[in-house]
Amino acid sequence: MHDVFATQTTHAGAGGAAMLEIRNLEAWYGESRALRSICLDVRDGEVVTLLGRNGAGKSTTLKSIMGMMRKRAGSIKLYGEELIGCASNAIARKGIAFCPENRGIFSSLTVAENLTLPPIVRDGGMSEEEIFDLFPNLRERLNTGGTKLSGGEQQMLAIGRILRTGARLILLDEPTEGLAPAIVQQIGRVIRRLRERGLTVILVEQNFRFAETLADRHYVIENGNVVDSMTNAEVPANRDKLAAYLGV
Ligand SMILES: Nc1ncnc2c1ncn2[C@@H]1O[C@H](COP(=O)(O)OP(=O)(O)OP(=O)(O)O)[C@@H](O)[C@H]1O
Ligand SMILES: [Mg+2]
Repeated sequence: MHDVFATQTTHAGAGGAAMLEIRNLEAWYGESRALRSICLDVRDGEVVTLLGRNGAGKSTTLKSIMGMMRKRAGSIKLYGEELIGCASNAIARKGIAFCPENRGIFSSLTVAENLTLPPIVRDGGMSEEEIFDLFPNLRERLNTGGTKLSGGEQQMLAIGRILRTGARLILLDEPTEGLAPAIVQQIGRVIRRLRERGLTVILVEQNFRFAETLADRHYVIENGNVVDSMTNAEVPANRDKLAAYLGV
């Protein structure tokens, strides 16, 4: 690759081709700059985490990939195709799906309605049966309204509804936040199954102990910059450094 950042920030993953290449990504909320110069790569079939303290820019990075930041600059390429300048619905049609921190489900609708609402953007999405295999609780709650679901059920629904769409790159913003340990484990099993199916996942996660059971690689974000990256195999040798970055 010709970009100098590539050699600095890229660690070879499991061997897939580069799917997403982000270079010098900047983003603003009004006049306030949230991302300064994000550079990262995600390969086909990887699970990659974005780590960092509160306010570091993790969610803003996901929102920028999804085309949800009004003001952004730099480059985000999906298989070489530039996404900066594309609207979020166009980005969704290219096969990227975002599960936001607030879960993005419609609380006034039932489980069944939430599942069938998102448009199918590509072939290869999961059938409702496959989604219920992943999340058996949802099958039992099919006609339940969103407001009556537990936090864990809401998270399962939020992930389930984007799996139907056929997206190949799944952006998950803190899917385990506030959930009981048993539910966290279930979400972990689901993310592993997604990887087995060949999907690619970018996971924002505060719970590093959870993240390191799943991820191929990690990026550390601080003040709107990527300040470090490592493979999961490199984590044991870097525990002190990671603890300092994350303040844990
Ligand atoms: N809607 C918004 N309007 C203005 N500033 C925002 C908005 N959302 C986030 N910011 C600011 O942008 C910066 C990056 O925020 P971001 O939400 O991306 O952080 P984060 O790493 O996801 O943090 P957290 O772990 O708290 O979710 C922070 O300084 C934050 O205060
Ligand atoms: Mg966030």
